[in-house]
Amino acid sequence: MSETAELKIDGKTIELPIVTGSENEKAIDISKLRGSSGYVTIDPGYKNTGSTTSSITFLDGEEGILRYRGYSIEDLADKASFLEVSYLLIYGELPTTEEYSKFKTEITQHTLIHEDIKNILEGFPSNSHPMGVLSSLVSSLTAFYPESLDPNRSWDDVDLSIKRLLAKLPTMAAWAYKNEIGHPANYPDNSLDYCSNFLKMMFAVPSEKYEADPVIANALDKLLILHADHEQNCSTSTVRIVGSSHASLYASIAAGISALWGPLHGGANQAVIEMLENIKKDGGDVKKYMAKAKDKNDPFRLMGFGHRVYKNFDPRARIIKKAADDVLNKLGINDPVLEIAKGLEEIALKDEYFVERKLYPNVDFYSGIIYRALGIPTSMFTVMFAMGRLPGWIAQWKEMRENKEPIGRPRQIYTGSNHRPLNR
Ligand code: MLT
Repeated sequence: MSETAELKIDGKTIELPIVTGSENEKAIDISKLRGSSGYVTIDPGYKNTGSTTSSITFLDGEEGILRYRGYSIEDLADKASFLEVSYLLIYGELPTTEEYSKFKTEITQHTLIHEDIKNILEGFPSNSHPMGVLSSLVSSLTAFYPESLDPNRSWDDVDLSIKRLLAKLPTMAAWAYKNEIGHPANYPDNSLDYCSNFLKMMFAVPSEKYEADPVIANALDKLLILHADHEQNCSTSTVRIVGSSHASLYASIAAGISALWGPLHGGANQAVIEMLENIKKDGGDVKKYMAKAKDKNDPFRLMGFGHRVYKNFDPRARIIKKAADDVLNKLGINDPVLEIAKGLEEIALKDEYFVERKLYPNVDFYSGIIYRALGIPTSMFTVMFAMGRLPGWIAQWKEMRENKEPIGRPRQIYTGSNHRPLNR
């Protein structure tokens, strides 16, 4: 039975098809609305608007469910590696042993970046924010790999661009960090796994031998999995709409990195740790700051609480909170900022003001604490989010291209001046 919705408008009844997803989500298909009624819909921030159908990620905001290609993030964080999850998101299934071995080899072959990228890096002053550097370096890949410019050329070319980007992003991220602190860049060590290689490129210095702590590498791998995709969030929607113009994968991802940089999106994890450090500097009185958060006249803003989609809890925050505890215990770190975070969470989960407003910790609340424990500097927190989100962006861009989706071109309602003659 085909379901429809009836819209009564201007004396007409318009039937609009209902779309039902595999998890029984419902949508009204308005693609014919303007042609049959002259009306468009308007929904600033698209909070009630679905931009596409997708088979990549399912999340249920009421139940706190997040699944990649049907697997729960709890299972994947516990039983898979970030590269396996990347393969799952991009190609639709977890890799067989042979597929995984081939995939890892291909990724390893592409970890180096062109030496000329050092010239681009040198153009950035030290203390440049790594997110701005990273977006520029990803965009520069179109210059070094011109065959990537036309995404319609061949799927083999697109697949090569995908593997190059997965392989090179950690190198570019580490080089952006080294540029920020004025240290020499480290070349990738292809004998190491994805996260250990990244940590070595981040923290090795010429005069000392560096070996990544497996506890830290494993925790980082889990964090990247938890950030790998999140359906049609701001940066993913940016990647899709840029890609819908048939811009290259690299141009689309560079745009996604810029969208993620904003403090209301991926930049929130950096803002959370800066908030916690400020509370610590001011004596660590969590009750005082939760009272400030409730005071409309107080400029203090509570970062890392609540979520546009999750209504009761962010499943990723639960996993990251436990991982933070485990990592700090294993590393023997007693971080007062973690205690402050737990104090804020305890109040938020009990105080009616926060409970009514669904202000509970989201993925950004604990991620900054664990990144700090892993030795990742604050300015790199959002870069870590970008590294994790990369396979999701790629998978969503690829799905949009495979489905031959049209160029994204929303309409508007004009509210400016009516026609007025220019009398001169
Ligand atoms: C994300 O993971 O992208 C953030 O939680 C933001 C969102 O989904 O809107």
